[in-house]
Parts: sequence; C-alpha cells; structure tokens
Amino acid sequence: MSDPIKRVKGFADLFEPESTAFTFLENTARRVFGLYGYTELRTPILERTELFARGIGDETDVVQKEMYTFPDRGGRSLTMRPEATAGVMRSFIEANLANSQPVSKFFTYGPMFRYEQPQKGRLRQFHQLNCECLGPVEPGADAEIITMLMHFLDELGIEDLCVEINSLGDRNCRPAYRQKLLDWARQLPADQLCPDCRRRMNTNPLRLLDCKIPACQSLTQDAPVMIDNICPECREHFDAVCALLDKNGVPWKLNPRMVRGLDYYMRTTFEVVSNKIGSQGAVTGGGRYDGLIRDLGGPDVPGIGFASGMERLAMLLPEVKLQRPDFYIAVVEDMAMNCAFELSRNLRRAGFKGEMSFSAKKMKHQMKVAARLNARKCLILGSLEVENQMVQIKDMDSGEQIAAPLADIVNFFE
Ligand code: HAM
Repeated sequence: MSDPIKRVKGFADLFEPESTAFTFLENTARRVFGLYGYTELRTPILERTELFARGIGDETDVVQKEMYTFPDRGGRSLTMRPEATAGVMRSFIEANLANSQPVSKFFTYGPMFRYEQPQKGRLRQFHQLNCECLGPVEPGADAEIITMLMHFLDELGIEDLCVEINSLGDRNCRPAYRQKLLDWARQLPADQLCPDCRRRMNTNPLRLLDCKIPACQSLTQDAPVMIDNICPECREHFDAVCALLDKNGVPWKLNPRMVRGLDYYMRTTFEVVSNKIGSQGAVTGGGRYDGLIRDLGGPDVPGIGFASGMERLAMLLPEVKLQRPDFYIAVVEDMAMNCAFELSRNLRRAGFKGEMSFSAKKMKHQMKVAARLNARKCLILGSLEVENQMVQIKDMDSGEQIAAPLADIVNFFE
C-alpha cells in the first residue's frame, strides 16, 4: 500500500464546527458591511508579482520573504495573493470606476497566502474579510470604517475588544520624522539588535518600533514616535477621527508604536488586538492609503480599509452550536427500506434534518447510530410498522416511545 498524501505545511482543512464558524463570519460580514453600502467584489487569487512588489512595497517582509511566487508556463512571474488590498486596487483601476462613482466601497473575502513560520493563529493559507472604501479623503470616512468594524465585531458576540489607532503622517511630515528616528537609532548598540532590526535600520527604520523581540523593544523604548512629529494637517485629521469615534461611542486607544507591516499606509492606521488567542493576537489591521492607487498607475483616489483574519476571529467566537438532526430512521427489517426512503423524503421536503439507515440492522446498533448523530427522535420501521402504516417514535432525550400514523408524521414534527 502506498503512503497517504499529507496536506501542505501551514495549509489547513476546515471541518465542522470551524467551517460553520467561517460561514457565520462571512454571512455576518456581508450583512453588516452591506448596511454601510459595501458591495461584494471577488478578485483572483493569482496576480502579477509586480502588483505586490509595487503595492505592498519591495522592502516589506511580505514581499521579501513571504510570497508564493512562481513563473507560469509562459514565463510570467505570478504570485498567490498575500493580501487583498493590492488586487482590489488593480481591479478598481482596470474597471475605470473612478470616473463613474465618487465613492466605491468593496467587501472581499477569501484565502491569502504567506510563507510564514506556522504556529497557533498563523498559517500559510489563511482567510481574510476585507473592506476598502475608495474616494473620500475626509476623517469621517476613517471614523465610519472603524465604527463599522466594531459594529461587526459586536455582532459576532466577541467581547472585550478595543481598537488601537495611530497616525503615520503623510508625504510632508514622514520623511523628516524618518530621518529623526534614524539619527536617534544610530546611537543604539547595533550588535544588541536582532538581525531583522539591523536590516530595517537601512530599509524601513519605522519598523524598529514594532519588533516583537523583548531586547529590541527595550532598546527602542524611548524612540521618537510619529504621532509626536506629524504636521498640522495630519494632526487635524487625526484629532477629527478620534473626536468622531468618541461621539459614536467607539472605545479606542492610542498606540504610538503601531507602524503596520505594509508600506502603503499613511495617516490613520488601526489594529484590533485580542489577548485571548496567544501571541498572534491581531485580529484586524488596516489604515488609510492615499497615494496607493496612483502608485499603481491609476488616478489619484484616496482610500482606507482593513482586513480581519478569519481563523483568529473563529478562535474568539462564542462556541458554535451545531444544529441537531431532527430524526434518524432506523430500519430494522429490509422490507421497510422503501417506506424509510419515502418517510425521509417527506420529512426533508418539509424542512426537517435527518438521516436514515441504508440497510436493516439490529435495534441496539441503530440506537447507537441515532445517539452518535445526536438526533432528537429515532423513527423505527420494521415489517409490522409498514403493514399498519405506523412508525415508532423514540425521543432520544427522554427515552419515551410512542406510535404514530405514517401519514401524520410531518404534522407530528411540526
Ligand atoms: P495585515 O495586518 O497584514 O493587513 O493582515 C490583516 C489580518 O490578517 C491580521 O490582523 C490577521 O488577523 C490576519 N493575518 C495576517 N497574516 C496571517 C497569517 N499568516 N495567518 C493567519 N492570519 C493572518 C493586511 O493584509 C491589509 N491588506 C489590510 C488592509 C486592507 N489595509 C487596508 N485595507
């Protein structure tokens, strides 16, 4: 016998109840985001590699180390999307939507792929629920999308979540801050920084601030932060977002060290973090990315969005209660099989969920199956029942058993 084939590392099979949790997440997202005018967009999983290199940023960890990139048979470099935003921007530009509508709001969801070290809450194929609002530059759009996100998380029944926000400044104020941070960081003992941080000094010094390694964190504890160095326009924008969140009753917390791992962000950035699911606690990340659409060759349309990780949300959901089957039909004699088929058909067409046995088996065995399925009722059919056009109905919780006419069974269930 040959060895069974295993799944790819970091890729998961989703059985019940996780698959039911995913359906619940998708349905709740579609409903809540729909209330705010978001429409569903499905973009391809494969894109040209250049889209992510230009969109997410050449120097980011995602582009440098984590993409599934390969040449297709025609020699073109393709990448399995590591996130949804760049693809949504590409499709917005390609469909020429900027000319036809002042605001475009898209909800998209599905699998994303990053070659990361798998651990609890971190996979190589994971799923995101993703929203993008393109068009408005005003702080109201930032406040609306954060309010919507918290509305969604409330509807999921996940408690104790707070959104952390920050401002990353813009093209006017960030270069000066970057230089200030670099000047400050140069006095750090480089040999005590982790290899990633040593590299970030040259490529993306802002990311020194969100290194997770304790030694680096304590070395950069007193580093200057962007929020203290933003220009008056960015400050005005940020204060307006915070004031609107307060007015909407959305609890938020400033996190001056949040820098996000993708290069396209500017001004408002936000994350929702939970302390209940271990080290990979970020359930949502997002922010404003004015300039991204232009950098990808489109018109100068601003935008803001977020993505929530579905695996991480599923871990936080209150326990999913699977729907119990209403019936199990136990066939105890072969000649009752046709009758069992008819009975199951009538019940299912009337909306009742259940299973039937496909061969006659002893009562004891049938009861075990009904109990394993957690069926509410076991319907017992043998030759006597068929002759009398009756069925025995055993309540699997109380153990009570009664006989009822077959013709009446749907009424009985109703
Ligand atoms: P991100 O912070 O890279 O942002 O990912 C968003 C969320 O996806 C994370 O908060 C986390 O819940 C989930 N996630 C990321 N990587 C993994 C993984 N390896 N395994 C499991 N879950 C993961 C973005 O992707 C941006 N595109 C969000 C955005 C949309 N910004 C603006 N619009």
